[in-house]
Amino acid sequence: MPDFQAPKGTRDFYPADAARRRFITESWRSASIRHGFEEIDGPIFEHLDLYTVKSGEGIVSELFSFQRAGGEKDYALRPEFTPTLARLYAARAGSLPKPTRWFTAGPFFRAEKPQRGRLREFLQWNADILGDASPAADAEIIATCVSLLASLGLTSKDVRVKVNHRAALSAWLQSRGVQPDAQAELFKLLDAKGKMPPGEFAQKVSAFGFSAEQAEVFQKGLVRITVPAGIDPSKEAVDPFKPPAIDPSVQDVLDLTYFSDAVMPLAKELVAAGIIDWIDFDLSVVRGLAYYTGMVFEVHEATGDERAIAGGGRYDNLVELFDGPATPAVGFGMGDVVLGLVLEDRGLMPKEIDLFRRIGATPEVFVIPGPAPEAELLVKPLLARLRTAGRHARASSKSTRNVGKLLKDANDQGARIAMIVETRETVALKDLATGEQSQPILVAEAFARLGIVL
Ligand code: HAM
Repeated sequence: MPDFQAPKGTRDFYPADAARRRFITESWRSASIRHGFEEIDGPIFEHLDLYTVKSGEGIVSELFSFQRAGGEKDYALRPEFTPTLARLYAARAGSLPKPTRWFTAGPFFRAEKPQRGRLREFLQWNADILGDASPAADAEIIATCVSLLASLGLTSKDVRVKVNHRAALSAWLQSRGVQPDAQAELFKLLDAKGKMPPGEFAQKVSAFGFSAEQAEVFQKGLVRITVPAGIDPSKEAVDPFKPPAIDPSVQDVLDLTYFSDAVMPLAKELVAAGIIDWIDFDLSVVRGLAYYTGMVFEVHEATGDERAIAGGGRYDNLVELFDGPATPAVGFGMGDVVLGLVLEDRGLMPKEIDLFRRIGATPEVFVIPGPAPEAELLVKPLLARLRTAGRHARASSKSTRNVGKLLKDANDQGARIAMIVETRETVALKDLATGEQSQPILVAEAFARLGIVL
């Protein structure tokens, strides 16, 4: 029997689904543009080598890879954008501005077991800054992500940005005698912490020389950095001599001096960007991807119920790996799936006509025939003229001539203005939000009121 179902882990988009998708992608685009990123894109499938060269053959099981019938090359549907971005940058590095700020949004594919928040085909937004090694660039990336979340109505009470620093954590572990091989193991364990019971995690962490009390700090993850009295994070000028302070109880359990060196400059930038309230410095965030070299972060719902909404960090060696010049880089990816779930859960996803209004898909003018017998004949020519002038114009597909019912249809479709045909030469304009209706006026006058010169 042929299988006519959509493949597992993919989605069909009916009009309301497509509208929700566009609402998210438009919000991504606005946040990117607000923060000065330029749009780029690459192919949806790449040579398989692009992924295996940095991650090893192990990655193949997580990808959809294929050969062309009769061909010999291996390809893969893109599971993420960062290797493509590094390839694009490496190819033109000499002529690109420093820093370069790029964003993209599109479909990505991973051969995962589909579950809540995880699909095989999903959309992902990426924003990356290349050629800037400063903590200010790290903060700007986080600020772009926060700007998107805030624009959708989420607050620092709904979602938390968990930040850590891989290189600093690594140096600190080294100073405690945890060697690089063991560190890689510990990072894997930290990345999987959410998937195991606390007791098991504590026991496993103790194998790396941590006490139960210290394991708890990793378990809870939180190292809250507070803004000292006298600093208003919403003001740009931050006194550099008053660094944000680490919760002293955590400092006692783990000697976190590494935070002072690596994280404090970032914390100051986050204060200056006015987003320190959104941040938890979390020792246990290390991220699964191998290429991160410095600051790493993940965005989670505050309740911790859903998977990560977004994740990213600094990757200073990747461009070089694709034969480009040594180039510091930092960025993040945000998927549409978890974001959509979080917005739905909190009632922040616009509903019905409001959703269509938010994406600019509701009509500006709804042409309605009035009671005069000839009125109906004028509907189509008026629609045509409005559309030629670039306006979104609709008429009802209902067979009724009852003006009240037609006005209701206009309202139901979210129209802004009804153009009611009165005679062969005249129409009335009704503002559907205020209910205000004009006297019958000449068609040319009505068009002029809509800003259209005939
Ligand atoms: P990632 O953590 O693998 O990072 O993915 C980032 C986000 O994409 C996740 O937080 C999640 O929202 C979404 N996502 C990932 N896989 C799936 C899936 N199977 N189904 C639904 N959503 C998913 C990266 O991809 C990095 N390349 C991000 C980056 C850009 N780092 C630096 N620049």
